[in-house]
Amino acid sequence: MIIRGEAREHLRRLPAASVDLSFWSPPYYVGKSYEEDLTFEAWQDLLREVIKEHPRILKPGGFLAVNIADILCFPDPSMPRFQADNVSRKTSPITRADVLAARTQHPDANRHQLAEFLGCSEQTVQRRLEGNNARGGKHNTPTRVLLTGALVATWAQEAGMYLYDQRIWHKDPCWANSRWHSNSYRAVDEFEHVYIFWTPGVTTYNRNRLTASEWGEWGSRGVWNIPSVRRNNRHEAEFPEELARRVIRLFCPAGGMVLDPFVGSGTTTAVAAALGCQWTGIELDPMSARIAEQRTSAAAEQCALIA
Ligand SMILES: C[S@@+](CC[C@H](N)C(=O)[O-])C[C@H]1O[C@@H](n2cnc3c(N)ncnc32)[C@H](O)[C@@H]1O
Repeated sequence: MIIRGEAREHLRRLPAASVDLSFWSPPYYVGKSYEEDLTFEAWQDLLREVIKEHPRILKPGGFLAVNIADILCFPDPSMPRFQADNVSRKTSPITRADVLAARTQHPDANRHQLAEFLGCSEQTVQRRLEGNNARGGKHNTPTRVLLTGALVATWAQEAGMYLYDQRIWHKDPCWANSRWHSNSYRAVDEFEHVYIFWTPGVTTYNRNRLTASEWGEWGSRGVWNIPSVRRNNRHEAEFPEELARRVIRLFCPAGGMVLDPFVGSGTTTAVAAALGCQWTGIELDPMSARIAEQRTSAAAEQCALIA
């Protein structure tokens, strides 16, 4: 079943102890079109409240798996401005000391005149004086990294679930935001997290869920190398089917119920259907909900044909 509507509202209506595995990727608070109207507080409330519903709807011993990335450019007005003296990029030999000396010699000169005295551009004079090779532009709010895992783990624990496991999804390096990369020592965006929370109760442990080689290749491995979804005509933040396949095969019993309250284009539900599981998806955006419905029904039909 794909439900078109708000996650919190519909989670409250799901029957108690009805879900074996809830796997989802929420809005990340990174400026996607579907989160434009969210303040940071509203984003935290959304995730906290969605997580809070889980201990009731998950079967005892069931799992919640959250795929999320850290926020690499979290605006923080209280942060001192990061100033980079980019020595590898200087095209003019004029140093800050040269500019200061010229200014002492010609105290009444403006920047334009100082540039003429020094034989360089006015921009070079300004850069040497202000050191304004600031990441993110000199007028923008400074940004820092915000670790989302600590927030999610705290909200889960408050709700009565425990961080059981974590995986790193190593995806393709994303250069799209390399605007900040030219002036920094920071890595490009190339990994996300999957945090797995356990609901107290008896968990069925079945070693036969994977073959011996699958255990060795990914079941017991902390880092999963899975290419990102390249096309985004279906959804701007679609995660790869292989990510959902691994999470479902590891953390859901055969034929179990899989939930995704932020189902987007229906990756989780389509993979659940293809694996012969039951599924429930919730999605606010009508267009995405329709895509999820079609995609999941097609996967279910295909699975029925094979069976
Ligand atoms: C990161 S995307 C999920 C993408 C999905 N995993 C896929 O592969 O297509 C998050 C989705 O959550 C939806 N969403 C945002 N806020 C929501 C809410 N309050 N209730 C339900 N869905 C919401 C967005 O419309 C978006 O489709």
